[in-house]
Amino acid sequence: MKVIGVKDYVEMCQKAKEIVVSTVRSKQKVNLGLATGSTPMGLYKDMVEDFKNNGTSYHNVTTFNLDEYVGLDGGSKQSYRYYMNTYLFDYIDIPKEHIFIPNGKAKNLEEECKRFDELIQKSGNIDLQILGIGRNGHIGFNEPGSRFDSRTHVVKLSESTRQANSRYFPSIADVPTHAITMGIQTILESRKIILLASGDSKANVISRLLTEEPSSKLPASALKHHPDVLIIADEKALQYVASK
Ligand code: F6R
Repeated sequence: MKVIGVKDYVEMCQKAKEIVVSTVRSKQKVNLGLATGSTPMGLYKDMVEDFKNNGTSYHNVTTFNLDEYVGLDGGSKQSYRYYMNTYLFDYIDIPKEHIFIPNGKAKNLEEECKRFDELIQKSGNIDLQILGIGRNGHIGFNEPGSRFDSRTHVVKLSESTRQANSRYFPSIADVPTHAITMGIQTILESRKIILLASGDSKANVISRLLTEEPSSKLPASALKHHPDVLIIADEKALQYVASK
């Protein structure tokens, strides 16, 4: 894992945008893996701005999102599909049929997980995967205890994750209890991975990630088994790390 330390959230997003844009411009067809949550919002804003100002086209880009809540459809404001439309897809030229997000309303969730995972493989896997990190070390919704060889599956969300995400819902009771997430193995099959971390709330988990041996107690530590992972973290997220 390589670490780039940046000053703040704005600089973190700029750096990530530069890598995304140069990846999109470097190949005829590109598969991007995308995350939601508060961390990548600024990255998506910068991508939209770059699209407007520099015309970077997403016509040949296919996207796969990491996760979706079980029970929410794209019309629900808290769904990750709604988030992606609102922050990115509605403002760039990506064809709608190139957008893949697990369907949290699927009748057969197991089938949906299998379909989604196979779709990624059939598309030739993800070229560049964007990740955030949960305070407990989750990536996607792979909570502590998740197997490193897991593929896309249904997870029960931990109480700490439901608590952290309740800020987007009217109350904690409205936060779904389950989600579909890309598995850790699925994520590790991406050719390049960028993990973004910003702010005091990520300082502890980033210090753990950089110092602990890989173990399922810290799902993000699986990334140590990948040959091309770049962590872009700001000063606050790196505050407990000795040499930045
Ligand atoms: C979201 C996702 C999650 C988030 C993580 C951090 O698609 O997969 O793993 O990246 O929960 O969330 P924020 O960015 O809101 O701190």
